[in-house]
Amino acid sequence: MLNILVTGATGNVGKEVVRLLTDQDCHIYAAVRNPEQAKQRLGDSSKISYVEFDFTNPSTFINAFRQINKLFLVRPPALANIREIAPALEAAKQAGIEQIVFLSVVGAERNRIVPHSKIERYINQLEIGATFLRAGFFMQNLNTVHLEDIKTRGELFMPAGNGKTSFIDIRDIAAVAIRTLLENEHINKAYTLTGSEALTFYQVADIFTEVLNKPIKYTNPSLINFILTMRARKLPINFILIMAAIYTTTRLGLASQITPETEQLLNRPPLTMRDYVQHYQQCWLNS
Ligand SMILES: NC(=O)c1ccc[n+]([C@@H]2O[C@H](COP(=O)([O-])OP(=O)(O)OC[C@H]3O[C@@H](n4cnc5c(N)ncnc54)[C@H](OP(=O)(O)O)[C@@H]3O)[C@@H](O)[C@H]2O)c1
Repeated sequence: MLNILVTGATGNVGKEVVRLLTDQDCHIYAAVRNPEQAKQRLGDSSKISYVEFDFTNPSTFINAFRQINKLFLVRPPALANIREIAPALEAAKQAGIEQIVFLSVVGAERNRIVPHSKIERYINQLEIGATFLRAGFFMQNLNTVHLEDIKTRGELFMPAGNGKTSFIDIRDIAAVAIRTLLENEHINKAYTLTGSEALTFYQVADIFTEVLNKPIKYTNPSLINFILTMRARKLPINFILIMAAIYTTTRLGLASQITPETEQLLNRPPLTMRDYVQHYQQCWLNS
């Protein structure tokens, strides 16, 4: 049986990958920093083993990679330096892992500064079979990072101007990840995963307003107003700067690319923003 190790198993995409893999003919190893806590959060199942794994603690690698055929790799957002990820990749190579499916980011093939680009190149250098899933902006950022703005202030607060984003639902990314983990033909391929429509945040606000049946406004703050507001909310400066960079890219019209690859790999159209807001609506409605 195929043994698949999922890193980031308690996070947005990894959790969904674990959930979808439980219906497949494989054994899942959820690679987590705290196995007991993760088991309580994700649930106990004969199909899932929880193993301790920490990118920054090499003593966890040998046990985590033992008998693993395939690895779903998520770079934790806090680990931006390739030096923090490389030892685990080397251990994966040593352990004879056949394929890494890596959650990368759109444009990683061009933008060599982003950590994902460095990770892709490191994996290639190690000559491990790999599939790179270069994902666009997650819809689920709106029920995580931006939850409170939308829920309590009725506001989409991001400095994205009139720029469009080809949002993707993480459930579609996870479904693509499953396919690429289970079918060997995706080894040594890279896919750019986007949704099927590019929307401005004005259009997103209209969808929220209609589906939630309460006014949600895109306030389009200036970059400086955004940074100062986030500072006042005591968010870490690195996180604020990453958000500022992402929304500046959007403002410049560089986040609107739509590719056919998600649809081709799913054999169905990707989920739309309207689907997403309908499915998650309880998140933003005050109980
Ligand atoms: N947000 C977007 O729009 C977007 C778009 C494209 C690509 N991406 C990329 O997607 C990745 C994030 O994916 P996500 O949102 O699914 O993740 P996430 O929800 O932020 O979760 C991060 C995961 O990493 C784990 N983790 C943290 N530090 C760790 C360590 N030292 N060792 C092992 N595991 C550790 C966390 O586990 P614990 O439970 O132990 O904390 C958690 O499961 C990033 O690389 C990001 O750049 C994001």
